[in-house]
Amino acid sequence: MKYFLYPTFLLILISCSGDLNNNLSKIEIEESVYLGPDTSKIPEGPEGEMIRYGKDLIVNTAYYIGPDGVNGQYLGNKMNCTNCHLDAGTRPYGFNFFSTYANYPQYRSRENSVLTIEQRINNCVERPHNGVPLPLDSKEMIAITAYIQFLGRGVPIGETMLGSQGIDLQFPDRAADPENGKAIFLAECASCHLTNGEGVFTPDEVTYVYPPIWGPYSYQPGSSMFRIIKAARFIKANMPNDKATWQNPYLTDEQALDVAAYINSPEHFRPNNGGLDYKDSSTKYVDYPFGPYDDPFSQNQHKYGPFQEIIEYRKNHDLYLNY
Ligand code: HEC
Ligand code: HEC
Repeated sequence: MKYFLYPTFLLILISCSGDLNNNLSKIEIEESVYLGPDTSKIPEGPEGEMIRYGKDLIVNTAYYIGPDGVNGQYLGNKMNCTNCHLDAGTRPYGFNFFSTYANYPQYRSRENSVLTIEQRINNCVERPHNGVPLPLDSKEMIAITAYIQFLGRGVPIGETMLGSQGIDLQFPDRAADPENGKAIFLAECASCHLTNGEGVFTPDEVTYVYPPIWGPYSYQPGSSMFRIIKAARFIKANMPNDKATWQNPYLTDEQALDVAAYINSPEHFRPNNGGLDYKDSSTKYVDYPFGPYDDPFSQNQHKYGPFQEIIEYRKNHDLYLNY
């Protein structure tokens, strides 16, 4: 089964010592990162057609269901799902969908209830895309779900494969610094996303060559990308788009956190239809930047850090811990 961890390899590693072990550990991590099913195996027939349409929707979302979508107008902006779920949801550490199907229905702390995969898809239609939910029985919803189900084939129910979540970060002892982030942004990001953060359209203006990262056509503050830890984990593995890979990140952990703090700073306007309220404040993510909280840390610290203190405190007091 080429998709799973290699137990023999791990055994060899454990039996190695000292430097050799260190040299191998990077290779070992690469070997066990899950790369997903073979997408050339999408079946023929009606089911295959639905899966292919689902993939097409992830890549060309604005064309199909954007503000001027040919198959319905649901999104409030012209971004595509693949702008964040990279390579149509198949890139390790690029918010891929490999472990998604195996983990729904899932308890979601914001709603403080169990959501179906369709409801979770609509969360992204509503928040990062500032849109209105797809009808649960629409062809588009069925197609996206069918594609995500295809990508999840081979992943055992309830499992999360390595690379399905953001890349690991070490948190510094200081808060993320938006001023330092601004300098990084201007040097490393503005060439594509522009200094005003609003990105660059394709010539036909159906969608973007470089998607916006703030401004009226970007993601809402209720989106996961607005959380600094979450955004930094994405940025570290993937941005700048032409320089970073998960195997060779370009920014340091501190730089990724600083630039995430800058793009998500309140000086940058974002659309907001009010989807910010948690039903229960005790289930907020560590980096959820809107209080109240059930711990003694300020809203500012929850937004910018230092995060490690909050993590330790929540661990020691048996409080809900996620980030
Ligand atoms: C601005 C970035 C952004 C865009 C655009 C976006 N998403 Fe997301 N999406 C996220 C983030 C961030 C997460 C949380 C991932 C995590 O927690 O690891 C997420 C999570 C999800 C999940 C849950 C994944 C899981 O395994 O639990 C689904 C399903 C999803 N998105 C579908 C979509 C679809 C479909 C679209 C397009 C209509 C879309 N997203 C567009 C950022 C985005
Ligand atoms: C060479 C061009 C380029 C550079 C430089 C670049 N990006 Fe991107 N960025 C992209 C592209 C293209 C995408 C969409 C990826 C896709 O659709 O496959 C993207 C997507 C994103 C996204 C998610 C989508 C969105 O619009 O919210 C964020 C966040 C982001 N970039 C942040 C950054 C940051 C921070 C930097 C600097 C450290 C940076 N980028 C540098 C091209 C670039």
